Amino acid sequence: NKCKFDYSKAVKFIRDEETASFEQIANSAKEVLTSKNGQGNDFLGWVDLPVNYDKEEFARIKKAAKKIQGDSKVLLVIGIGGSYLGARAAIEFLRHGFYNNITEQQRKTPEIYYVGNSISSNYIQGLIDVVGDRDFSVNIISKSGTTTEPAISFRIFKEILEKKYGRKEAAKRIYATTDKAKGALKNLSDEEGYETFVVPDDVGGRFSVLTAVGLLPIAVSGADIDQLMEGAASERKRALALPYEENDALKYAAVRNILHRKGKSVEILANYEPSLHYLAEWWKQLFGESEGKDQKGIFPASVDLTTDLHSMGQFIQDGSRIMFETVLNIEQSKVSLELKEEPVDLDGLNYLAGKTVDFVNKSAMNGTILAHTDGNVPNLRIDIPEQNEFYLGQLFYFFEFACGVSGYISGVNPFNQPGVESYKKNMFALLGKQGYEKEREELQKRL
Ligand code: PA5
Repeated sequence: NKCKFDYSKAVKFIRDEETASFEQIANSAKEVLTSKNGQGNDFLGWVDLPVNYDKEEFARIKKAAKKIQGDSKVLLVIGIGGSYLGARAAIEFLRHGFYNNITEQQRKTPEIYYVGNSISSNYIQGLIDVVGDRDFSVNIISKSGTTTEPAISFRIFKEILEKKYGRKEAAKRIYATTDKAKGALKNLSDEEGYETFVVPDDVGGRFSVLTAVGLLPIAVSGADIDQLMEGAASERKRALALPYEENDALKYAAVRNILHRKGKSVEILANYEPSLHYLAEWWKQLFGESEGKDQKGIFPASVDLTTDLHSMGQFIQDGSRIMFETVLNIEQSKVSLELKEEPVDLDGLNYLAGKTVDFVNKSAMNGTILAHTDGNVPNLRIDIPEQNEFYLGQLFYFFEFACGVSGYISGVNPFNQPGVESYKKNMFALLGKQGYEKEREELQKRL
C-alpha cells in the first residue's frame, strides 16, 4: 500500500495530450535533478538521505530522545522555518491530537512546545509560565546558528536552565542541531559541551526534516523514526525509478505546472483533519521558498476543512478563478466514532444513525471536491492510506521530489532563498547591529 496521486477529477481542465506532452519536460527536469547538473546542485543531499544517512548519529538521536523522555517533563524545540516546521508537522500528524493536554500516563513522553518561531515576548513569557518549575530540556535547531528568532529564545531559556540546574547540569539538557563546524551555535556548543547533531551542508532547511533537525523532536514524541525513514526510502525508490506514466511525484509536478500555465497561480492544499494543519505549513514553506522567486511561482496556500468551508469556502467556490486545489485524503481514519439513533429525532440527525463521523467527513470531502470542480477549481487528490510514520515518510519525500522537479520545470533554482535575506538586513540595521550603520540611517529616514 502507498500514498497515491489522483488527478482524475481534473481531466475537465487538462487534456490527455497535455499531460503526455509534459512527459519530456518533466523527465528532463528530473534528469537535471538526479544528475545534479542544475542550479543549487550543492543542496541535493536530501535526494539520497532516506538510504544514505549517518547511522551512528541516528542511534545517538534515539539515545538522546530516551534520555529526554526519562529526565524531562517538557521539551522545548527552538527553531524557525525549515528548522521547525518538519518536526511539528510530523508530531501533529502522528501523535495524539491533544498531545500536550492528555495525561502523562496516556502520553508517556514529555510535553513538546515550539518557540523561537516568532519574536513575541508575550508568547515567550506564556511558555515560561507553562514550563513552570518542571524539569525540561531544550533542542535548539539552527543550521546557520545565527538566526535571530531562535537565538533570542535560546538565550532566555538557557538562562532559565542555568539558574535552575547550574551551568554544568544545564549543558546536559541542551541539545544543539547545527552545522558540523561553523556558526555561533556550534562555537557555543563546543564551549559549553552541549551534545550536537548535524545539519548536513548539502541539505537546506526546508528539506531537512529527515535529518536530526526533524528526527530528534519526532523521536522524543514517541514516534517511530525507523518507519519514517523506511517510508521515505520506499517513495524515493518509486520517484527515481518509475517511468513518467506511473510516477506520482513526477505527475504531480507536471500537472501543477500545466495548471499554472493555464493561469492557475494559486495552489490550495486542503485537509480534512486538524492534525494535518502543520503538514500544510511545512508544504507551504517547501514550495513557497523553492519556487517563489525571479518574479515567478505558484502561490502555495492552505485551508483546514471543513472548518474553512465556512469562511474561505465562499471564495474558493465563487471568487476569482485563480486557483487549483490539492486535497490530502486520509483514507482510513485513526478513530471510528459512530452516531447513535435517538428516540426523538429533534436535531434531525437520525438519518445518520449507524454512520461514523468519518463517513460524514468523507461525504463532505467528496461533495466539496465535486462542487469546487463545478466551480472551475481543478481538483487534485493525494490519497494517504492512514496516518502513520511510514506513509508520512512517503509524503515528505513525495513532496520534496515533486518540488525539486517542479522548480526546475519553471526554470528557477529551487534550493536557494535569496528573498528571505531582505527583511533580515533591514531588521539588523534598525536594531543597530555593527556593520549596518549606513543602511540604518537610510531606513530611519523612511520610517
Ligand atoms: O529553509 C530555509 O533555509 C529557512 O527556512 C531556514 O530553515 C530558516 O531561516 C532557519 O534557518 P537556520 O536553521 O539557519 O536558523
